[in-house]
Amino acid sequence: MIPETFKAIVAEENRDGKISPVLRDKDLSNLPVNDVLVKVQYSSLNYKDALSATGNRGITKSYPHTPGIDACGTVIYSADQSVTKGDQVLVCGYDLGMNTSGGFGQYIQVPAAWVMPLPEWMGFRESMMLGTAGFTAALAIYQMELNGLKPENGPVLVTGAGGGLGSLAINILAHLGYKVIAATGKTDEVDYFTRLGAAVVIGRAEVDDQSGKLLLRPKWAAAIDTVGGNIL
Ligand SMILES: NC(=O)c1ccc[n+]([C@@H]2O[C@H](COP(=O)([O-])OP(=O)(O)OC[C@H]3O[C@@H](n4cnc5c(N)ncnc54)[C@H](OP(=O)(O)O)[C@@H]3O)[C@@H](O)[C@H]2O)c1
Repeated sequence: MIPETFKAIVAEENRDGKISPVLRDKDLSNLPVNDVLVKVQYSSLNYKDALSATGNRGITKSYPHTPGIDACGTVIYSADQSVTKGDQVLVCGYDLGMNTSGGFGQYIQVPAAWVMPLPEWMGFRESMMLGTAGFTAALAIYQMELNGLKPENGPVLVTGAGGGLGSLAINILAHLGYKVIAATGKTDEVDYFTRLGAAVVIGRAEVDDQSGKLLLRPKWAAAIDTVGGNIL
């Protein structure tokens, strides 16, 4: 049975004019009109969620609003043939949690094109432990392999290794058999990076070339850069 109301975290303006998150009962009829209704099992916590929950208008234009840029759960209703009631699904990115009511509520209603099947071997909880950061890292590695990257090509550099994306990229690459070089500002955390799967840990200054040369000697078969700027 579909309830008329559900619980959600709602970012709303308080008496001081500040936006902050509170737990509310919401009417299901207030969800955006879209083809697929999903009962949410898990979401993950992303930096964008913190921005949305605290009133960043670059992320969320109007409030009250429910953040949560990703979610997994079970399809309760679908008006689109590509998605079926009972399907276990994931929604990651698009406009979810930005200007579309997001995964920090018990229900989301989204376009069918945003919905992906949950892989059979993956549980709901695990999918959101990896979250959007894991999905992004996996997509990057997938594209690199489509471009011909293989473990035998040589070591792969990951910059910003201690961050959300970097740490998951290290772990996925290591599981796929790559020799991973982790570049970080946290060089005293070698044990942590080794546990993630890094073969070598280097300081970020080593990848922040200041020579001004346009071309440098190749050192790695590939790199996942999560930092940008001169390091990129
Ligand atoms: N998280 C996501 O879901 C996601 C999805 C798509 C795109 N992105 C983008 O990917 C990038 C990384 O995201 P993230 O979530 O991994 O961020 P994060 O958790 O904040 O990690 C960023 C890492 O960058 C390094 N860093 C920070 N300041 C630096 C500086 N001044 N110089 C050199 N390195 C510095 C640090 O690495 P060390 O700790 O190793 O020093 C830090 O841990 C961002 O641009 C983000 O917008 C993120």
